[in-house]
Order: sequence, then C-alpha cells, then structure tokens
Amino acid sequence: MTREEPVGVVGAIIPWNYPILMASWKLGPALATGCTILLKPAEQTPLTALYLGALAKEVLWWSYVAGFPAGVVNILPGYGPTAGAAIAAHHEINKVAFTGSTEVGRLIAAASGTSNLKRVSLELGGKSPLVIFDDCNLDEAVEIAHNAIFANHGQNCCAGSRTFVQEGIYDRFVKKAKEMAAAKKVGDPFEEGTAQGPQIDETQFKKILELIESGKREGAKLECGGGPAAEVGYFIKPTVFSGVTDKMRIAREEIFGPVQQILKFKTFDEAVMRANDTQYGLAAGIVTNNIDKALMFAQSVHAGSVWVNCYDIVIPQAPFGGFKSSGYGRELGEDSLKEYLEVKTITMRVPMKSS
Ligand code: NAI
Ligand code: MG
Repeated sequence: MTREEPVGVVGAIIPWNYPILMASWKLGPALATGCTILLKPAEQTPLTALYLGALAKEVLWWSYVAGFPAGVVNILPGYGPTAGAAIAAHHEINKVAFTGSTEVGRLIAAASGTSNLKRVSLELGGKSPLVIFDDCNLDEAVEIAHNAIFANHGQNCCAGSRTFVQEGIYDRFVKKAKEMAAAKKVGDPFEEGTAQGPQIDETQFKKILELIESGKREGAKLECGGGPAAEVGYFIKPTVFSGVTDKMRIAREEIFGPVQQILKFKTFDEAVMRANDTQYGLAAGIVTNNIDKALMFAQSVHAGSVWVNCYDIVIPQAPFGGFKSSGYGRELGEDSLKEYLEVKTITMRVPMKSS
C-alpha cells in the first residue's frame, strides 16, 4: 500500500506584491496536509502576516474556526539575506516554499543542496507573452492587454509584459493602448477614481525608471508616460512603448512596473517562436476568434498558465506555477498538495502456508 505523509516543517518565504494572497497560498496546502509552517513575510509588508498570526492564536470558545495548536503557525518577519537565508539553509526545515525573484530562487535551491536537501518549490518571475491576432475584437483586446500589464501597477509575477500584436491591426492597437494608459488616473489609492498608486519602494521605483530609460536609449518609441508621475512618492506614469524588438532589455527583463511593451509580428509560427524566446515560462495569453489558433498556441507555448481571450484568471482549483526559470512546483489545485507530502510505500510479506 502507499501512504502520503506530511513533509514536516515548512518554511515559506513570500514577497510583498500580494501579501495576504501569498500567505494564504502557502498556509492553505501546508496546513491541509498536516504540516507545520514558519512563514517569513517580505520586509516591505510584514503587518498582514503578523495580523494573520494574531488571528491564528485567537481561541474562540464558541467555535473551532481558529485556535491552532501552539507551534503550528509561526510568523517570523525579517530580512531576506538573514532570516530568509537561515530558513533556506536550516537542517530541521523539511521544505521551503518560495515566491519572489529568480535570483533569490537560485539561492534557495542552492541552500537546499548544501544543507539537508529540503524539498523546494519556487514561484519566480516572468516575462509573459500576450499574443494578439488580427482576427480579434480590437477594443476587447486592447483592454485585456492593458489590464494584463497594468494590474497591481505591473507588480505582478504573471504580468503580460510582452504584448505581441499582429501587423494588420498594429497601428490601431498602439493608438488605443496609448489612449487607455494615458487616461489612467495615478495618485492617492484612497481617493475616488484612482486606478494606480505608488510602486512599493524606492528600489523598485528606481529599477523601473532605469529600465524605461534603457527602452528610450535602445530605440523603442515612447508613446506615453516615461517617467515619475509626481514630485514626491514612488509614482510612475503608465508607460507604453511601441516598436519594441526582442533584444531590447525592456523585452527581456522583468520590469515589475506599469510599462507596456508592444511588439509587432506577422505569422503564427513566428509569434510562437518569439513568445518562447525567454528564460521564463510562467504565463502566456492569446487573443483570437480562431479556436484552432488558440489551441495550437496553448499547446506550443512554454508556460504554466495559458489564458485564451482573458488574462490573469487564477482560481483556487487550478494549478499555478512556472516552466523553465520561472520555477518549479505548483500552487493551488490538487497539485499543490503534492508539494507538501511525502509518498511512502509499505510492502508486507504475507505468509502463504496452507493449513
Ligand atoms: P526578492 O526575491 O529579493 O524577495 C522575495 C522574498 O525573498 C522576500 O521575503 C525576501 O525577504 C526574501 N529574500 C531575499 N533575499 C533572500 C535570501 N538571500 N535568502 C532567502 N530569502 C531571501 O525580491 P525583491 O528584491 O523584493 O524584488 C526584486 C525583483 O524580483 C522584482 O523587481 C521583481 O522583478 C521580482 N519579484 C517577483 C515576484 C513574484 O511574484 N514572482 C515577487 C517579488 C519580486
Ligand atoms: Mg531582493
């Protein structure tokens, strides 16, 4: 017979871009499989996780909803190179579930190798292609592409950050994409009508501005935005580049900001080849009214999630994770449970004497 047993003590290291969501994606499967968990939130966003910890400690006399036994849910705020690295190298932690940069993902995998070979699942970044064919409904496609990149100010691991548009609709698409981005209201997130607040911190703010400058320098056409949106705070104007080519840094590196790259393509095969020409493989999208193209693309693209005529649809029942340098392992769905379980085979000899 076979049995599945909890892997044991789980160390979870999460990023700042979706603090509560990332915490729940780790806590859910770890607790459901009977593991204990040590969760390290990102240094930029410790409060959500601490509040969750307080809720986990709450004992409700009238229900069994909360009140975890002591030691099951542990929240440990701290910096990456110290607290995070200590978790990754710890000999009594049996598994690390990590979401964050590819750079740190490599360190976590290496620390597993040089410590106790703890199980590792990595959900890293991407440079996800969204391919738009000229048979589509143009307005719908412009909106899908806009939300694919600008959602959460571009601070999204599966952001559609390479918008490939077929040549027949390219110019009209660029015009509408620019109008939509330019009309986006940037400012105080608590103010009515604001669609985009500040970036998370100064490091990200500077990184994004530097990449925008590289786009200008390397010859992409700046359609709108292109710099800070205010004198104080980390606000960046929604930015659209057209005429982007595959070798530009803005077409290769994860910007993690409100910057849309629009690239032109001619044929289906070319689109697939260029979409796959990246170290990443987290997500991809296609907008078309042709079911054959949609299915052929979905099967040919190297990505853990593929969206057809939509983008960023992530549901608890469906597995989520990356191909290639976007990481390994899956979160959500039944697949996520496997990441927290060890399989044990039990073989028993049955005496065959006749009596
Ligand atoms: P990061 O990968 O450094 O941080 C993510 C988590 O890893 C945080 O909890 C951090 O404390 C921890 N960490 C950092 N260094 C560590 C180490 N040596 N050992 C163990 N844990 C460590 O990401 P960062 O610096 O906040 O952002 C840099 C870039 O990473 C972004 O511009 C973006 O491109 C990408 N990123 C991708 C995310 C995703 O959702 N896949 C989330 C956050 C960032
Ligand atoms: Mg970092």
